[in-house]
Amino acid sequence: MPDPAPPIRTLILGGTSEARELARRLVDDGLDVTSSLAGRVADPALPAGAVRIGGFGGPDGLADYLRRERIAVVVDATHPFAVTISAAAVAACAATGVPLLRLARPGWAEHPLARSWEWVDSYPDAARVAGELGSRVFLTTGRSTLSQFAGLGASYVLVRLVDPVERALPAGWQVICSRGPYTVEGERLLLGEHAIDVLVTKDSGGQLTVPKLTAAAELDVPVVVVRRPVGPVGVQQVSTVLAAVDWVHQAWAGRAAGPVDRARPGA
Ligand SMILES: NC(=O)c1ccc[n+]([C@@H]2O[C@H](COP(=O)([O-])OP(=O)(O)OC[C@H]3O[C@@H](n4cnc5c(N)ncnc54)[C@H](OP(=O)(O)O)[C@@H]3O)[C@@H](O)[C@H]2O)c1
Repeated sequence: MPDPAPPIRTLILGGTSEARELARRLVDDGLDVTSSLAGRVADPALPAGAVRIGGFGGPDGLADYLRRERIAVVVDATHPFAVTISAAAVAACAATGVPLLRLARPGWAEHPLARSWEWVDSYPDAARVAGELGSRVFLTTGRSTLSQFAGLGASYVLVRLVDPVERALPAGWQVICSRGPYTVEGERLLLGEHAIDVLVTKDSGGQLTVPKLTAAAELDVPVVVVRRPVGPVGVQQVSTVLAAVDWVHQAWAGRAAGPVDRARPGA
């Protein structure tokens, strides 16, 4: 009798809720899964299966890791704004011949409120437009973007982050720490309590942070949205966790991986 096929070792580049759901589903299916986290947050929500934390040392480091750990497939399920690691995944997988799938949740361009928002191409543009629209800003673009808002002409800036910031922030800035998901009621209260008159966010997509957009619309608070950067080029891409599960299973079955981007109920 021939030996059974060796297990497919799957690497998920994670840090998103989709990455965690993908890990859970693949582990439930009995697959050998390692999730990789950057190590940006102090107490990350850990995915099912094995977890490694910290950078790889660029594309070459990632390629070394793929070889050393005998990774057979990679799913890049990182955040749509995490462009450096996505580019590294493209380069490392090309160098090692490891199949790569990009799992990226859809953005908010098709959201019913999208046409009422101010769309901009960069954080400095968001700072400029927000300063024109209001003086009390709710800033939700993430820790790594804060320095790009230094010139924001606003009397008050409420920043929401997962972990506190160590460095001093400009006068009039306040940080609140929390982790979603959020509710519309909670977001409405927050905007009201802090007399917010402009919300700044980025096109992260997904459902977990949509309530702030709904609450802003209800309170007539204008919204500034930073457009997504261009994602990795020439990579197979799906937008649902279930399509990514299918792709990994097809790789496991030894078939040509041809992802079908179909949304199933509950995806
Ligand atoms: N950007 C966002 O708005 C955002 C929001 C929510 C969650 N996240 C998550 O936070 C992480 C960092 O995001 P970022 O925007 O700072 O990334 P990035 O700018 O694309 O990556 C910067 C560096 O961080 C390391 N890195 C990033 N993601 C990694 C991962 N999953 N595993 C191992 N190393 C990783 C890599 O270091 P080396 O070069 O040393 O390999 C990479 O070069 C990502 O995993 C992302 O999914 C990001």
